[in-house]
Amino acid sequence: MPLMRLAYASTATFEAEPVKRGIEPHVARILMESRRNNVKRQLVGGLYYGDNRFFQYLEGEKEAVLALYQRIKADPRHRDVVTLIEGPLEKTTFTDWSMKYVPLSADVQQLLNRYGLREFAPASFDASMCEEMIQLIRSSRGDQKLVNHDEAETRAQPQARVLSPAMIGGLILAAACVIGGLVATGASL
Ligand SMILES: Cc1cc2nc3c(=O)[nH]c(=O)nc-3n(C[C@H](O)[C@H](O)[C@H](O)COP(=O)(O)O)c2cc1C
Repeated sequence: MPLMRLAYASTATFEAEPVKRGIEPHVARILMESRRNNVKRQLVGGLYYGDNRFFQYLEGEKEAVLALYQRIKADPRHRDVVTLIEGPLEKTTFTDWSMKYVPLSADVQQLLNRYGLREFAPASFDASMCEEMIQLIRSSRGDQKLVNHDEAETRAQPQARVLSPAMIGGLILAAACVIGGLVATGASL
């Protein structure tokens, strides 16, 4: 069975809702369906959602990829689906992912900056931008618990503090007890 790869860009039709557990709720549902179905059909790939637009990359058996793409194109949750890459593939490159999700990331922002783009508009990506985007998704740690970089930084801050005041107090008390114990033992000898 021949393998193929496919990438497309589209625009979400839903009104973005507040992020829950690191992901926009509509996108979370799409991701859930995708993972459930793609595993069964041995399809792999990645999904990026930003500025209300999608970039999706798929790999798998040609028949399965094309059948899924027909379904995806008819999905009312997005519109203006533009095929960016469609071609043969020797072997799959997203081995562990039925559908990897990459949250809005600083890497993509850098990619956009480099190409002078002010927002995530994948429909206008040329071939090399698409390849960079795919590589970025492939190499990303893909932690779907994080939505965007700002949130990642805010969340990281509490962890940056090594010891809380309560813990320091506890340690001082424990040290005092140990020293007291040692002094008492020394005195009784
Ligand atoms: C942006 C986007 C990406 C999607 N990606 C996938 C996918 O990778 N796999 C999949 O099965 N469905 C995907 N879907 C959902 C399909 O369009 C369709 O709703 C789903 O495959 C139907 O699944 P069901 O037959 O289990 O109801 C995607 C939808 C959107 C809007």
